[in-house]
Amino acid sequence: MSEDNSKPVNKEVSTDGTSKDSSPKVKRARTTSRAKQGSRARTSQTKPSVKSIAKPSFNVEPTTSFVRNLKGKRPIVGLTAYDTIMASAVSQANVDFILVGDSLGTTVLGFDTTIPVTIDDMIRHTAAVRRANPHCLLVADLPFGEASLSFDRLLDSCRRLMQQGGADAVKIEGGRDVADDIEKLVATGIPVMGHIGLLPQTVKAIGGYRKFGETKEEAESIYTDAITLEEAGCFAIIAEMLDQQVATELSRQILPPLIGIGCGDGCDGQILVTTDVLGWSHGQVPKFVKPYLNMNKLVSDALDKYVGDVRLKKENP
Ligand code: KIV
Repeated sequence: MSEDNSKPVNKEVSTDGTSKDSSPKVKRARTTSRAKQGSRARTSQTKPSVKSIAKPSFNVEPTTSFVRNLKGKRPIVGLTAYDTIMASAVSQANVDFILVGDSLGTTVLGFDTTIPVTIDDMIRHTAAVRRANPHCLLVADLPFGEASLSFDRLLDSCRRLMQQGGADAVKIEGGRDVADDIEKLVATGIPVMGHIGLLPQTVKAIGGYRKFGETKEEAESIYTDAITLEEAGCFAIIAEMLDQQVATELSRQILPPLIGIGCGDGCDGQILVTTDVLGWSHGQVPKFVKPYLNMNKLVSDALDKYVGDVRLKKENP
């Protein structure tokens, strides 16, 4: 549903993404009052500017069932965001969901892995993303350790991500090991997105990032994880760095959408880390990412220019 910007329309987009035509009343009232003042110059100023009024419309809904039901209809697209300005840009791009990933740790907070990220970090950044009023589902990652201590602790952390952070759903790394707890969370009304394949929170245990599912045993194990998460009630499952054939086949076999990252193009959708897409990172970017921009260079050129201008006592244009 794209809006034709060439037509002189006056549409307001409400927070639920619907639009209403409000121009006639506003225009008529203003013209009448200006006309009464008898000022031609002022009357002409009341003409609405088409450019300033036209706003994008959105064809996504912020619900888990909307995302789940996209399976088989069109590819699902997600991106990460960690703060208000990034969330606003990502939402304007009309994604189906935003993930406040614990990749926050490596992209924004300067850590080598996601392991140091805490539940308080996740709540603070999820709340910042919520303040952008995104027009899509907002999913927050459960950080390292929160699923391992007790079910009460897990429930409390998910509750905080939703109540204090404003998340619509949580994402939990793990397969059959966490499936019982996920089933209980779903029963209490917490929508859960699963995450299988490479689990970045286990990087210290597995000794580095690598592809998963290349052996028959590993492919079967991943298949079991996916089926168990489906049965536990996950509305969607992220698959990270799975062998392409395994990921494609798995997408066909399971009911929830399988959303791939580094799994080729056979999944039901794709998610990427936004800073990787924008070429705006200080660390290594995974090989499977094709950046759409070199933000590092754009920012560095602009800042160099600013610093140079100030030192030369030029005014900032
Ligand atoms: O934390 C994150 O950004 C993620 C994505 C890699 C899916 O889990």
